[in-house]
Amino acid sequence: MQLRLSTWCEVEDYLKAQKDIIIPIGSMEQHGPMGLIGTDSICPEVVAAGISEKIKVMIAPTLQIGMSQHHLSFPGSMTLRPTTMIALIKDVILSLAGHGFTHLFFLNGHGGNVDSIKAAFSEIYAEHSLLKRPSSSHLHLCNWYDGKRVEALGNKYFEGVKGHHATPSEISLSFYAYPNAVKKADLTPKVAPVNDFRDCFDFQNNFPDGRIGSDSSLASIDIGKELFEGAVQDVLEIYQSFYQ
Ligand code: NI
Repeated sequence: MQLRLSTWCEVEDYLKAQKDIIIPIGSMEQHGPMGLIGTDSICPEVVAAGISEKIKVMIAPTLQIGMSQHHLSFPGSMTLRPTTMIALIKDVILSLAGHGFTHLFFLNGHGGNVDSIKAAFSEIYAEHSLLKRPSSSHLHLCNWYDGKRVEALGNKYFEGVKGHHATPSEISLSFYAYPNAVKKADLTPKVAPVNDFRDCFDFQNNFPDGRIGSDSSLASIDIGKELFEGAVQDVLEIYQSFYQ
């Protein structure tokens, strides 16, 4: 069930039977010369849709812009400041909790979001603790790319060139989701460098085409299909132990 395609009456009925919701959360940032800017939002969104094909669960609208300050040298990238992102996530949680959703499962597609998501959870719990009011909210963060099946597929197809950004895994999954948007590019060097980074200037100096440690050219729709099926199973197992 997609929240944005439901009526309030349908949401009211849903809440009489169950109180869980999946919130896909991603980013809008460059993913190298052949990766889509929306990759990190598309991936959790498509995995969430796959889960809703298997079990009855409400899917919230994808939070499409994340914490991507280090990508701002590349055209099209957008970011929220960490403080803005924490405030956004808190308001989303409070909106949904106010309606009676008790189990909120954030399905994340961007490593740069993790600190802000965890900080938002801590802010929510801190307010309850400080006011001595028990919270009914069970908040969970799950990265779609961390599961054992996705890990195994990455090792099988992209051993040594998975990298950390614009990975062939995430690009394959986004191409599977949007086959009409598949891009090709000549990548030099084939495998991007690995390094630390600070702000967007430092990032662009270290990673001139935007990739970190990856060979995006290995991405394919067929591998994306396998990753989709693996990720749905990985996340479903975690989800079913989160909300029973
Ligand atoms: Ni990404």
